[in-house]
Amino acid sequence: MRIIEKVSEMQQQADAWRREGKRIALVPTMGYLHRGHLTLMQKVRNHADIAVMSVFVNPIQFGPGEDFERYPRDMERDVRLAKEVGVDVAFSPSATDMYPEGYQTHIEVTEVTRPLCGKSRPGHFQGVTTVVGKLFHIVKPHTAIFGEKDFQQLVAIRRMVRDLNMDIEILGHPIVREEDGLAMSSRNVYLNSEQRNNALRLSQSLREAQTLVRQGERNSAAILAQVRNILEAGKDMRIDYAEMRHPETLQEAQQIEGPTLLALAVFVGATRLIDNCILNASA
Ligand code: PAF
Repeated sequence: MRIIEKVSEMQQQADAWRREGKRIALVPTMGYLHRGHLTLMQKVRNHADIAVMSVFVNPIQFGPGEDFERYPRDMERDVRLAKEVGVDVAFSPSATDMYPEGYQTHIEVTEVTRPLCGKSRPGHFQGVTTVVGKLFHIVKPHTAIFGEKDFQQLVAIRRMVRDLNMDIEILGHPIVREEDGLAMSSRNVYLNSEQRNNALRLSQSLREAQTLVRQGERNSAAILAQVRNILEAGKDMRIDYAEMRHPETLQEAQQIEGPTLLALAVFVGATRLIDNCILNASA
C-alpha cells in the first residue's frame, strides 16, 4: 500500500487514475482505526477500482478544550490494518499542507448543523465540512463513505454535496458495535473498565426505546423519559442531549410517525460518546 503525504502528489495521482478511467473511493478517517472503519473500507472496495483512506486529525473540527492533542494516533497500525482490507493508498497530509499560512476559506452547512452536536460543539461541523470538501478536491473520489454513528455529520455532508453540486456518491454505513452493544469509536480507548461498563447504557437505552415503539408508544417525550432514566442511573454519566429528530431535516419530532432518529450524546466521565438509532413506527 502506498502512503501519500503531499496534497499535490495526491491530486496528481487522482488525476492519473481518472485519466485511466478508474473509479476512486474515499474513506475519510482521523485514524486509530477500529472494526467500524475497516468495514467501511471493505464496503467501498466493491464500489471502486481504487480505495483511498485519508488519515488526518483535523484541527479545525476540535473546539478549545477538546481532545485534539490527545486524540489517539498510530499510523503504523492504521496502515497495516487498512492494507489487510485492500486499501490502495493512505493519504496522510500535514496540517500545514492542508491549512497553510493565510488559510481563510470554510464551508458551512447551516440548518442541519445547528441542533445536537452543533449546539454543544460550536464550529465543529464547519471544520468537518471544510476538511471533507477539501479532501474531495484533493482525492477526487467518485464515491465516499461515512459511518452512521456520526449521523448528523452524514446528514451535513449529504446536504453539502447536494447544495454545492459535488458529483460524488455518498454512502452511509450502519453503526458497527462491539458484541456487548457499545458503538465502536476511537474514543472508547479513553474509558476505564468501569466507565466502559457504564457506557453500555447508551446502546441499552436505544434498545429500550425500540422496544417501547414496538409496544406501541409513539410519544417522543415518554420514550425520552425512559432513555434518560437508563442513562442517568449510570455512575458519573451526564447527558449532553437525548433527542428525537427527523432523519433528513433534523427537525424535532414530537411523535414517532415515520422513521425517527433517536440521537444521544453522553459524557461518561470526561469522555463524550455519541450513539443513535432509527426508530420506526411500522417496524
Ligand atoms: O468522522 C470522522 O472521523 C471525521 O469527522 C472526518 C469525516 C474524517 C473529518 O475529519
